[in-house]
Amino acid sequence: MFRTRRLRKTENIRRLVRETKLSVDDLIYPLFIEEGENIETEIVSMPGIKRFSLDKISKELDEITALKIPAVLLFGIPTNKDEEGSETWNDEGIIQKTIRFIKKNYPSLYVITDVCFCEYTSHGHCGIIHHNDVDNDATLVNIAKQSISHAKAGADMIAPSGMMDGTVAMIRESLDNTGFVDLPIMGYSVKYSSAFYGPFRDAADSAPTFGDRRTYQMDPANRDEAMREATFDDQEGADILMVKPALSYLDIIRDLKNTFDRPIACYNVSGEYAMVKAAAEKGWIDGEKVMMESLLSMKRAGADIIITYFAKEAAKILQKR
Ligand code: PBG
Repeated sequence: MFRTRRLRKTENIRRLVRETKLSVDDLIYPLFIEEGENIETEIVSMPGIKRFSLDKISKELDEITALKIPAVLLFGIPTNKDEEGSETWNDEGIIQKTIRFIKKNYPSLYVITDVCFCEYTSHGHCGIIHHNDVDNDATLVNIAKQSISHAKAGADMIAPSGMMDGTVAMIRESLDNTGFVDLPIMGYSVKYSSAFYGPFRDAADSAPTFGDRRTYQMDPANRDEAMREATFDDQEGADILMVKPALSYLDIIRDLKNTFDRPIACYNVSGEYAMVKAAAEKGWIDGEKVMMESLLSMKRAGADIIITYFAKEAAKILQKR
């Protein structure tokens, strides 16, 4: 009889035949930076995650760099919102200031910026509203302005998350025309219209004031369409392709991994984080083990890169191994 259990007998043989390994090198940590001073606010639905003002962020950055987490993904929370989200391309805006601060004080930390408008528009949608819906092509013009402003401030990578068609082509062309030919783009290529973003919208104050995002984000039912979305981003020149959320979309991560010759990222989103934290708090699961198992499953599904609010906690555990 073939006995599969022979290779499971001790920890050392299990180590030898282990197929997937999680590493701190795989992780990106999202950061919420709020305009103002003396802000260090816990996000209620995301225990352990805070909104910081720039004057309070150093402790967090010290920790991130000490843990050797390679990169952060920045989200800005501005004081002033308007119809267009014009604060996103203000060279003195909160994200631009944060990029300069990090590049000056933590030069080795890799800075990725989320390029979107929902935290910056009065209506909470990811672009300009015309006739009760987001106008794709009008929004593209502003996406270019925002990306160039981030590039000028010193961002290392641009990550557009708004799901407008033609975004990656527009950003690539704008960056190339302004001399940023070396600046990579990580597309939120396959981003679903998901209820798992709930806690993030509290965190970033970015919930739409009317309607929802189903006219631009993807239908969770669709798998073939995910390939179409990723193909466009690939052809338009995205350097990295992302799937978001992660846990309910592991099949999509694997599809992309098998199809595209690009690094694949996934976003382990706020709702996925909140569920683990809540159940652990109740004592219903072992939070630490469930966290490591979920991250491992994303890697096994094919993610080369995982954006996760667990990055610091996971890095601490991986350091001890
Ligand atoms: C903004 C954006 C969202 C997330 C990342 N960028 C929210 C949304 O699309 O409503 C979600 C992240 C998370 O839930 O952790 N476009």
